[in-house]
Amino acid sequence: MKVDFYEKIWMAIAAVLIVAFLSAILIAAGAQAIRPPSHQETINPEEVYDSEEFGSPGVEVQEDGSVRVTMVTEMFFFDPDEIVVPVGKPVTFRITSPDVIHGILVAGTNTNAMVIPGYVTQFTITFPRAGEYLMMCHEYCGTLHHEMQGLVIVEEEGA
Ligand code: CUA
Repeated sequence: MKVDFYEKIWMAIAAVLIVAFLSAILIAAGAQAIRPPSHQETINPEEVYDSEEFGSPGVEVQEDGSVRVTMVTEMFFFDPDEIVVPVGKPVTFRITSPDVIHGILVAGTNTNAMVIPGYVTQFTITFPRAGEYLMMCHEYCGTLHHEMQGLVIVEEEGA
C-alpha cells in the first residue's frame, strides 16, 4: 500500500495528539487524582424531612474542628439559606432535595454541584478567606429559580 508523504505526516500528527490526550486523562486521573465525584448515597425523597439528618438541617461543628453542613434544597430556597462557617477548616456539605433537581454554586469558590432528588450530594471545601459568599441554585427548577439563593458567611476563628 502506498501512502502519500503528506498523508504520513498527518497520520503522525494524529497519532501524537491521541497519545497526548490519552496521557492527559491518565495523568489527571492517576497522578493528580482528578476524577468525577464518587460519593453515592440514596435517600427516599418523600422522607427527607422525616429523616434524622435532614429533618433539622444546619451547621454542626465536629470534635476535630471540621464542620458539617446539612442542607435541603427545595423550590425555591435553601434550608438553611444562611450559614456561618469558620475560615481554613474543612466544611463538608451534605445536601438533598425532596422535589426537583437543584444546584448549588458558591460564588468565588470551585463549589458547583447538582442536587438530585433521591440522592445525597456530598463535597468538602475549605474556605481560604473570610467573607460573605453568595450561594445560588444553578439548575433551572421552576418559575422562581432566579430567587433561589443564600449566603455563606465565612468567619475568622473566634469571631
Ligand atoms: Cu433551585 Cu433553580
